[in-house]
Amino acid sequence: MLLWLFIHIVITPQTIEQITNRIDVIDVVGEFVKLKKRGANYLGLCPFHNEKSPSFTVSPSKEIYKCFGCGKSGNTITFLMEHEKYTYVEALKWLAQRYNIELQETEVTDETRTVQLAAESLHALNNFAQKFFSEQLLNTEEGQSNALTYLEERGYNLSTIEKFQVGYNPVQKNSFATAALQQQFSSEILLKSGLVVNRNDELVDNYRGRIIFPIHNTTGKIIGFGARVIGNADKAPKYINTPENEIYIKSKILYGAYFARHSIDKANECLLVEGYTDVISLQQAGIENVVASGGTSLTADQLRIVKKYTGNLTIIYDGDAAGIKAALRGLDMALEEGLNVKLLLIPDKEDPDSYVKKVGSVAFNKFISQHKKDFILFQSEILLKEAGNDISKKNDAVNIIAETISKLNRAEDFTKRQEYIHQCTTILKIDESGLINLVNKFSNNHFVKEEKKNFVAEKQAEASSDGKIIFYPDDAQEKNVMRVLLEYGLNKWDDEQTIADYIFEALEQFRFDNTELEHLYEVYQKQYQQGLQPTAKSLLYQENEKIKSLVVNVTMFPFELSQRWDEKLENIKVSNLDTSIADVTMSLYYFKLRKLKKMFEQNQDDMQQSKNWNETMRFMEIHKHLKGIEREITQQLGTVIIK
Ligand code: CTP
Ligand code: MN
Repeated sequence: MLLWLFIHIVITPQTIEQITNRIDVIDVVGEFVKLKKRGANYLGLCPFHNEKSPSFTVSPSKEIYKCFGCGKSGNTITFLMEHEKYTYVEALKWLAQRYNIELQETEVTDETRTVQLAAESLHALNNFAQKFFSEQLLNTEEGQSNALTYLEERGYNLSTIEKFQVGYNPVQKNSFATAALQQQFSSEILLKSGLVVNRNDELVDNYRGRIIFPIHNTTGKIIGFGARVIGNADKAPKYINTPENEIYIKSKILYGAYFARHSIDKANECLLVEGYTDVISLQQAGIENVVASGGTSLTADQLRIVKKYTGNLTIIYDGDAAGIKAALRGLDMALEEGLNVKLLLIPDKEDPDSYVKKVGSVAFNKFISQHKKDFILFQSEILLKEAGNDISKKNDAVNIIAETISKLNRAEDFTKRQEYIHQCTTILKIDESGLINLVNKFSNNHFVKEEKKNFVAEKQAEASSDGKIIFYPDDAQEKNVMRVLLEYGLNKWDDEQTIADYIFEALEQFRFDNTELEHLYEVYQKQYQQGLQPTAKSLLYQENEKIKSLVVNVTMFPFELSQRWDEKLENIKVSNLDTSIADVTMSLYYFKLRKLKKMFEQNQDDMQQSKNWNETMRFMEIHKHLKGIEREITQQLGTVIIK
């Protein structure tokens, strides 16, 4: 009772919501388990049982994990509770701390405190450093004449410089180190921050004579710096960046995200450029939905930051070969993350920074919207151009493109996939059905592998005696209907009803053979009828263990995009970009066909046992009736063979 009060007073539902909104399951689980990307999911060695080959799967889009070996499953909070033996409240606190969400609570464990301290000292030092560098830039003779003039010559105005907290590190050997030591920062933390280095047992400023660009995390805290030489970089490297430490993790940083996040949200588009100066110039020009990757190829973590705000990513790079290569490297990953990626090259040896200064923001925006090109189409054109008249190179190109398109393997992407196939056919001047087959070949390879792996895993699960739910391959269609209900139930079917309403109506005559699924279906229906708006997530954050693992199992269902589905692409008319209707329709069709198949079998058995002509006739009638229903469905689907 006391605990109950404690939870509700200290951690309000708003805070919990704030925390659960920010949760990044890969980030959290990845802290404890080495995860490798495998398709849309991540795979690792299960931390809950001993295994040599990984069967622990984490789905970033569904925010859940599941081990196909031991059956353990759940969401980020249950992971922390199981793995770290945290209580619910402790898990929330851990997350709040990680995502800088403030709790009124002040008591923390010693362990948490130590981690907190290192990060806090770095934050504090960076904060101090930023103020020091800004002061040097704006209010010292050296800063003004060396650095400020240069920045002004490049066209940055004072308010931009202040907004991005740009600074300057004086030329003198250790002016910053001295000031920081005076403030009681330890030499250990100074070295960790990268701001200071050890030269012959002396602490020396690492960014002497450079312009300093602070790098903020998405909550606005300074996590590191990029330090640029003034003018041309002949002798020294152009930039020196903060080394990896507790708070600066390069693969997870998108420069400018803090300043851009609201605009990205509003514009529903994120522009991605290469450099610090590109971000700052575009911002100054009023184009605010822009972030930079730092010139290297994109990481999955960076893409997931983008995905928190928008599904549309527009990459803007210089027109040089290196820029194009860098851009293309991020492609497959972005597709797997379900991002809509466009690409745009700035012409004439310009970069976004120089180009926006040259043409102004109106023309720049216009240029983006007119010239941004779909990534897959862009890639097709580049590859085709490279191949020229070389038949074998062209053949390679077609294969690469087909494989890329096959990466669009989530159910909701399937209309896009159809469109790409169509458009690439035109660009490549090849036969459409040929490309469809090729794409299917790539996705079937993937599919068959997944299916095999899962079958083995399910067998293992069957052997494990921890009372977890076991699915048999026979349940595929039932699981799939449950999946679409959880995924799209609350969406509109048409102006009159939701998808849930539609599914309830369609399944009135049918039952789930799997009693667990039948139970979940009833729970969903009950909650829905009470106006509770059930979703996979809401069902996951409630207490009932059985329901939770069932929901995970269903939403992790790997058969989302079936082979048959691919083969039927052409026969489904999808009028808009929303594939939920198609997904639901297909899932219900296959569900019903499966049921019909069982009814046929049953009827066949009955017929063989019938004792007189009348009975036989009746079973024949039933057979005909079932055939009629089957025909109706298969006509919608084209021909379907159910094994
Ligand atoms: N970069 C880096 N180290 C370098 C060069 C580049 O880390 N030696 C990263 C920086 O993040 C930089 C980005 O790559 O912002 C793009 O490089 P570049 O276009 O050369 O730098 P800009 O920031 O555009 O600088 P400027 O316009 O002043 O040349
Ligand atoms: Mn530049």
